Order: sequence, then structure tokens, then C-alpha cells
Amino acid sequence: MSETPQKRLYIKTYGCQMNVYDSERMTDVLRPLGYGVVDDPEGADLVVLNTCHIREKATEKVYSELGQIKLMKDRKAQAGGKMTIAVAGCVAQAEGQEIMTRQRAVDLVVGPQAYHQLPELIARAHRASGERLAADFAADEKFDALPAERKVDGVTAFLTVQEGCDKFCTFCVVPYTRGGEWSRPPEAIEDEARRLADQGVREVTLLGQNVNAYDGGGLTLAKLVRRLAKITGLDRIRYTTSHPRDMGEDLIEAHGELPQLMPYLHLPVQAGSDKILKAMNRDHTAESYVKLIERIRTARPDIAMSGDFIVGFPGERDGDFEKTLDLVREVGFASAFSFKYSRRPGTPASAMPGQVDEAVKSERLDRLNQLLDEQQRAFNASQVGKTLPVLFEKAGRHPGQIVGRSPYLQAVHASGGEHLIGTIVPVRIESAAKMSLAGVLANEPVLETA
Ligand code: 5AD
Ligand code: SF4
Repeated sequence: MSETPQKRLYIKTYGCQMNVYDSERMTDVLRPLGYGVVDDPEGADLVVLNTCHIREKATEKVYSELGQIKLMKDRKAQAGGKMTIAVAGCVAQAEGQEIMTRQRAVDLVVGPQAYHQLPELIARAHRASGERLAADFAADEKFDALPAERKVDGVTAFLTVQEGCDKFCTFCVVPYTRGGEWSRPPEAIEDEARRLADQGVREVTLLGQNVNAYDGGGLTLAKLVRRLAKITGLDRIRYTTSHPRDMGEDLIEAHGELPQLMPYLHLPVQAGSDKILKAMNRDHTAESYVKLIERIRTARPDIAMSGDFIVGFPGERDGDFEKTLDLVREVGFASAFSFKYSRRPGTPASAMPGQVDEAVKSERLDRLNQLLDEQQRAFNASQVGKTLPVLFEKAGRHPGQIVGRSPYLQAVHASGGEHLIGTIVPVRIESAAKMSLAGVLANEPVLETA
């Protein structure tokens, strides 16, 4: 938190003690965004009127105050600055967006129970006017970075198709640091994919913070994938990372229909307790997630599921955590990433009550990882005896060994010549470990011993 706030917040409270309390909380959630309280609205960067609706007269007072503040906003704009005006509290609750019709200078309206949404609303208002919120978020590559684009020296490549996020999960900095969802035009992606294929790339992974929210001028991710699947030489297509709420019916269908679309899906769920999912602003329940997986598995029964999990989110009790384990047992994951909740200043969850003890988080993470490891091993073991098409990528560590990937993204080791790199070859899987499989080339004559 900075000692010298760069941004000036003027907050005026009308009415009862509840509003006084809420104004303090709003100040708290705004402080990490760089806002410090000032006692004069003139020149302020953000003006919040925390209103009271108890009497007609109280409401009218708000509108007349807004008229004054509009003049200050105009003055600031003339000087090249920007003032954001927010109306909070009971008038906001009662009149909602109407307020913005009556006083156009108002940028956002936030009801009494929603002060924790202020960072989100402010970020959205700033973005709507093309501005980035210069918030005080420490960058943390672990959570908000896309994998770096791999340079093309092999047979697989990443291809960024989308960036940013509008989901505002309450634990996450991405919507603030990376901005809103933005998609590359399909033509540019198609050109790049074609060039990659010409250079010998056989598999592309389409990247985006919210890749299944891809919108190329009305073209969905499923349609984009169908276009890319027509490119000669591009035999495998993957995409990551997805949000359950953007998992469209056409994308599910594509999994059932397109042989190029690999049967592996990274679809973070984060938690199994509906109470926690709601506090995370995930917009799905445990049940809706499970139902979604059922639909995906109906289209593509062998799909390997992967996910992200957070343990120790504020307010997570033992019972909530057990629900995460239940969900994991019900879905069955082939791989997963799990994290201890980490408090990121500026995000709504960082100001939530019920922050969980580090020791409790560690213990839950261990239990979750144990279950996920078991599932990963079981999934890998279930491939033994099967013949899988493997795209060989490089020479292995041992002489005469080559390494590739199964359709389910498992590393597969086999004995074979380097001429096989860049080809997709059937491999009979003979053994499985936690992180990889080993097998023999299936069309190589196998010496039977009596
Ligand atoms: N604490 C813990 N995990 C986080 N993630 C994002 N933000 C946080 C945080 N504050 C995790 C989520 C997300 C993945 C990329 O990182 O699980 O899906
Ligand atoms: Fe962050 Fe992903 Fe949630 Fe977006 S959908 S806010 S990137 S966790």
C-alpha cells in the first residue's frame, strides 16, 4: 500500500450509521488501487456519493449535489483530467441505472451490498473510456502470465488468439493488469497458423487468458478451430485456458466431431463449495460444472480433464474444502494445478473477512495434491496396453530414445530413430509413471519370445 496515494478519492456519506460503515469499507477496498481520501471534491479523481433514500428530499439532495459535481468534472476534463463519479448506497439500490439517465455525468452505480465490487466497476468504467487502471498490483507471473510464445524450432507451437479477462474472479489480478478481453482477428491467426504449418509445425496450442471467450468479429473459438483444422499439416489443435461459463455448445460439439481437436481440456473450477464459488465470483456452481463435464464427455467420452484449484480462499471452512475433494472425486482429473490462496492487494478477496491460516492452507493443499496425484497416476496407468498416436517432438535423454506426446498431453518415451520426429506414430503403451508413459512403436515388428 502506498503512503502517498496518487489518486484522490472524495467520498460523501448521507444518512445512517450503515452508510458510514460502508463508506469506510469502500475506502478500504479502494486504497490498494491507489486512492487516498481528500475532503474536497474539486479536482478529485473519484467521487463517491454514498446515498440515503429514506425521504424524497434526501434523494433530491443527491441529484442537486450531482449537478455541482458534474461542473467540477467538466472543469477537470477541460484541464485534461478525468473525474469518475460513482453513486453508492440506497438511492443506487432503489433507482439503479436510472440515475445515469437523469445525470449523465455519473459513471457507475453500486448498491449497498456491492461495495466490494467497486474495484471491478471502476476498472470497467476506466476501460470503457479506453484507459488502463494503473493499479498498485504486484505482477506475479505464477498467476497472471500466459506461457511465453515458444519460438518455432520444433513441431509444436503456441499461438496467442486472445488476451485479457472480464470475469473479475475476486482473487485475481488479471482483469486489472491485463485489461479486458480482446481477440485477434481470425485472418491473422489463420495466416500465422499456415506459416507455422509450412515450417513443419504439426500441433498448435491456441492461447488466451480466457481462450474460449474468443470472439473474432462474431466468430467463436469453435469456428476458429474448424477453420484451422483445414490447414494441411496441422494435425493437432489444443487451446488453453478456458472458463466454464464460456464453454459454448458449438465448442463441445467440435470436440465430438473434429479429430484434430485433442481430447484434453484445461477447465479451471477453483473450488467445490458453492459458497466459496460465489465469493470467488465464478458464476458457476459445483453442480453446473459437473453437468458441463458430463456434456463434454458425452461428445468426447475419452476427454482428459485438467483443472486449477485454490485452497484456503477467505471463508473456506473444513466442510467447504471437503466439497472440493468431493468434486475432484466425482470428475476425475488427468492433471491439475493447485494453489494456496494468495492475498493480492487490490483484489476484493484480499479485503474479505475469514482469511485462512497458512498452516491450514498447506495441510489442505497436501491433501488435495495427494488425491490429484492418485488420479493422475490412475489415468496414466489406464493407458497401459493401449495403442496411442504419439506426435514425436525430440530426442530423449537416452541414446536411441525419442519423446513425444499422446493426445491426452502425456509425455511418451519410446525407442526409435530421430527421423520419426515430427511424425505421428502409433505407440503401444507398456508402462506408466506419474508424469509420463513409455511404450514401443506399434508397427515395428515385436519379437515374440515363447
Ligand atoms: N491465489 C491463488 N491462486 C490464484 N490463481 C490466480 N490468482 C490466485 C491467487 N490470488 C490461480 C487460479 C488460476 C490460475 C492461473 O492461478 O487457480 O486459475
Ligand atoms: Fe483471473 Fe481466470 Fe478469473 Fe479471469 S477467469 S479473473 S484470468 S482466474
